[in-house]
Amino acid sequence: MKRRTGQDRSVTQNWKPATLAIRGGTARSEWGETSEALFLTSGYAYDCAGDAAARFAGEQAGMTYSRLQNPTVEMLEQRIALLEGAEACRATASGMAAMTAALLCQLQSGDHLIGGRAAFGSCRWLTDTLLPKFGIETTVIDARDPQQFADAIRPNTKVFFFETPANPTMDVVDLQAVCDIARARGITTVVDNAFATPALQRPLEFGADVVAYSATKMMDGQGRVLAGAICGTEDFIVNTLLPFHRNTGPTLSAFNAWVVLKGLETLDLRIKRQSENAIRVASFLEGRVPRVNFPGLPSHSQHNLAMRQMDAAGPIFSIELDGGRTQAHGLLDALGLIDISNNIGDSRSLMTHPASTTHYGVAPEQRAIMGVGEGMLRLNVGLEDPEDVIADLDQALTAVGL
Ligand SMILES: Cc1ncc(COP(=O)(O)O)c(C=O)c1O
Repeated sequence: MKRRTGQDRSVTQNWKPATLAIRGGTARSEWGETSEALFLTSGYAYDCAGDAAARFAGEQAGMTYSRLQNPTVEMLEQRIALLEGAEACRATASGMAAMTAALLCQLQSGDHLIGGRAAFGSCRWLTDTLLPKFGIETTVIDARDPQQFADAIRPNTKVFFFETPANPTMDVVDLQAVCDIARARGITTVVDNAFATPALQRPLEFGADVVAYSATKMMDGQGRVLAGAICGTEDFIVNTLLPFHRNTGPTLSAFNAWVVLKGLETLDLRIKRQSENAIRVASFLEGRVPRVNFPGLPSHSQHNLAMRQMDAAGPIFSIELDGGRTQAHGLLDALGLIDISNNIGDSRSLMTHPASTTHYGVAPEQRAIMGVGEGMLRLNVGLEDPEDVIADLDQALTAVGL
């Protein structure tokens, strides 16, 4: 590969995150293209049968099949690993493919997992439905309290699985405290870092073992493709994840990898501006609605912890209205600029009613325990002028009597 490609860690180790986001992992072809090449190929041709055999035997460098390797996907994996400060990364077809693979590759019947109870609906489905179906015991706890992790440990506990901040309650997990508990007991921590991304929070620095992503969110950042990623040690990725990933095939397409590579170039700029915009919008909402769940606000009970482990609070938060689903849906229906959409991390401002969308599949009594009420709305603050977003919310709130 060519000069200054970013493939060589001795070259990149001194680069700062903003540089890594643009150049990390770049591997130029013989044409020397400046922008990353998109390799739309499912297979690779060999000069002779012996080369094919040697590559499959691992005796010759090179690619064999795009479920296993693809140059564009590898560039993305290198870039995410560099940004995360991880030894290795494997990209996946979606965030849920990442969460599922990160858990199933290391758990087996008879093991026990402790999960944060506040979590994205499909992540709760993994802990509540999928894992128990395969004989893996699970316990969900209030992950804001590290002691609850310690108290729930059993002799067969293998994994702690949680997101911070959590979707959509914005519960913050004390990364250092929880990772310390896990380390002391030989338990693997799997952190879903979708809301923060490595631009704002790097769980490995606090002792986490595995960091998993929905790259569909801030990493793409413009609502275009589904993607995911799993970061960890070389040993975990190569010896634990890869056998599962290569043979079950939750592989990221080269096209989607290319889109996320382009997204990462502006991640730092976008997430910082969107975080600032979110503070402006949340400050407006405070006092106007009964509750604003945003660790970025000094009034939030976990503000100090969030600011200790995050560089900024991110673009996503939730609010709670007292008028239940009727008032929440009424507010959504009165919006003019903000889209009603269950996606997040987009450069557009989006709003959703979790109880009837992202958390529809979670049993109502579980939703209540998680704190996802009928009056909750989740907001992703985009890159629009925050004054326009505030004006839209102002008129929608007035329309529902607030
Ligand atoms: C915290 C979190 N984890 C995982 C996912 C799943 O990601 P994907 O939709 O890319 O499968 C989401 C999606 O909203 C999420 O918010």
